[in-house]
Amino acid sequence: MTAIRIGLLGAGVVGSQVLRLLQTQAAELTSRVGAPLEVVAVAVRNPEKYPDIDPAILTTDSAAMVAREDVDVVVEVMGGIDPAKDLLLTALERGASVVTANKALLADHGPLLYAAADASGADLYFEAAVAGAIPIIRPIRESLSGDRISRVMGIVNGTTNFILSAMDATGESYDKALKEATRLGYAEADPTADVEGYDAAAKAAILASLAFHTRVSAADVYREGISAVSAEQIAAANEIGCKIKLLAICERFIGEDGAESVSARVHPVMLPATHPLAKVDGAYNAVYIEAEAAGELMFYGPGAGGSPTASAVLGDLVTVARNKVVGGRGPRESADAQLAIESIDAVPTRYYISMDVLDRVGVLAQVATCFAEQGVSISTVRQQGHSDDATLVVVTHGAPESALAATVGRLDALDAVRKVTSVMRVTGDER
Ligand code: NDP
Ligand code: HSE
Repeated sequence: MTAIRIGLLGAGVVGSQVLRLLQTQAAELTSRVGAPLEVVAVAVRNPEKYPDIDPAILTTDSAAMVAREDVDVVVEVMGGIDPAKDLLLTALERGASVVTANKALLADHGPLLYAAADASGADLYFEAAVAGAIPIIRPIRESLSGDRISRVMGIVNGTTNFILSAMDATGESYDKALKEATRLGYAEADPTADVEGYDAAAKAAILASLAFHTRVSAADVYREGISAVSAEQIAAANEIGCKIKLLAICERFIGEDGAESVSARVHPVMLPATHPLAKVDGAYNAVYIEAEAAGELMFYGPGAGGSPTASAVLGDLVTVARNKVVGGRGPRESADAQLAIESIDAVPTRYYISMDVLDRVGVLAQVATCFAEQGVSISTVRQQGHSDDATLVVVTHGAPESALAATVGRLDALDAVRKVTSVMRVTGDER
């Protein structure tokens, strides 16, 4: 059996675990693939940081490594756009298969990579790019390819879920929870990508593209992170029986004229505590899919960390290596639907709004008028405190985002409203 020769780009949190699994499971992997998997090169920037890796295979010349004709599969777990993009293009153009965990690269340059893979007949696999160990790419790309997906909603960033869970459960500070998530290897090299929602937006773009057979890039995804979520908002959510989660939501819309469009967005939401996604804590992820024939499906598991992510990488590696051994290749890009991207302004949503108000006759009527004038229906209103310390909490029914945003602007301008203190979208309970 001729070995399948692997070039590994990166040996950090994920790469080190890929190497460990390749070593400890060598015999089983050989039998599953039908040939041994041999790591012939590992590219890093600072070889001195890797005393456990055989110096004979360590290199800093990643460009030369991906160009080597004897490297059959390139596994990319280095992250970032440059130089990863050019390295993977070089590998794909010469027919080497690629396994990558790099969601940022796929969300920005997926079509370019697919085209290079198509031209040479190489495989491009990326299960680890979304939701760590959870098999979600393969189910959407293959298992559900005969169905019509209408919505994908998920917790797809482990770092932010870890932070929100810690703030909720123990009252831990945002900064302390972020430090811990970084120490545990969940966070990106620059954790801004996690906390500001860029990482989840890249994953939303990948999920929306695959689910709706169209092209959605990271720039098409509306994005808000969790850095502005306060301990007070978490307490307020608990008071109305909700949890705050950072959700990626990808939806298919059908207009009155029958034209279809898609929306992809990432932002914090209040979810009823009884919703299955509200119970997903720590660095765990979950993705909820609604499909026409299949109905509702939920995928749940560890969403970040070296070992869980390496599991997904290894799964892809076995597949592409087996394809090399027995022939054949995995799925290509499926983007024939070419759907328009819906603006966030038109997306129907529900708002939670709390405001400090003057506790006097007629205030409630003025507040209610602001909602009515924008065509926004109120679901619940609650007053807490009184006199100088009165707070009104309003939860709306569904309305276009633009109408809700305009309502908040009108409320802020009312003399009777001292301050709009908190605004958050509510989902998962469409009563
Ligand atoms: P790390 O920062 O831990 O490791 C990155 C590795 O890549 C290091 O070995 C680094 O070498 C090497 N590297 C970085 N840039 C270069 C370069 N220009 N040339 C050569 N080597 C380079 O990252 P992670 O392992 O956490 O993440 C890797 C990828 O996996 C990212 O795309 C990330 O988004 C993705 N991912 C990560 C998950 C996680 O939980 N950590 C989960 C899912 C996906 P050196 O140390 O010498 O700089
Ligand atoms: N930084 C990412 C997260 C890693 O926290 O989810 C997994 O993609």
